[in-house]
Amino acid sequence: MSKVTQIAHPLILHKLAFIRSKNTGSKDFRELVEEVAMLMAYEVTRDLQTEEVEIETPICTTKCKMLAGKKVAIVPILRAGLGMVGGMTKLIPAAKVGHIGLYRDEETLMPVEYFCKLPQDIGERDVIVTDPMLATGGSAVDAIALLKKKGAKNIRLMCLIAAPEGVKNVTDNHPDVDVYVASIDEKLNENGYIVPGLGDAGDRLYGTK
Ligand code: PRP
Ligand code: URA
Repeated sequence: MSKVTQIAHPLILHKLAFIRSKNTGSKDFRELVEEVAMLMAYEVTRDLQTEEVEIETPICTTKCKMLAGKKVAIVPILRAGLGMVGGMTKLIPAAKVGHIGLYRDEETLMPVEYFCKLPQDIGERDVIVTDPMLATGGSAVDAIALLKKKGAKNIRLMCLIAAPEGVKNVTDNHPDVDVYVASIDEKLNENGYIVPGLGDAGDRLYGTK
């Protein structure tokens, strides 16, 4: 069974309010998405395995903990998921980054795949999929299925804002995948947008329309 974690830290909620505001321009939007991703990364990586290592301080030898064995891969769903990568790699600089290109057909709302490039050892890594928006969940469900087909075994999904429908879609189809969100909003509207949401994440990040 998937674990769904809502990370409602005051700093995250504060920054999310600015991200939602239609008066926030692309420059601030990009910076805030990166900052929230970095804050969320702290919680998303809480259960990573550590191992004991011996370190020499200037004073003496001591035992410390470092990340063990399996390493991390961050896999943004293009385009908008890319906006979260900088915040994650600041905290986990050794992470490799894969890319999955998907866009939602505006009429059918079905995801269309156009790109996939993953670290070759993806099966040995803890994979963190990033996408600011989990709306119908179609994109995340397909991206995770593709990752599994390429050998990924240990996958978690990290989004800023989710609709209840999207959370259900992912947890029904991928019960082995834990989901981390900053907010679960009210619903989807008739165009498949999250309400209240933040609008179109890709367009707001990159200034397109
Ligand atoms: C957005 C968003 C998700 C997807 C969510 O991407 O970043 O990937 O929609 O919708 P879903 O849960 O209903 O699939 P979009 O398709 O707009 O592409 P973009 O990031 O290139 O703008
Ligand atoms: N994709 C977005 O960027 N925003 C939404 O609200 C739904 C899908």
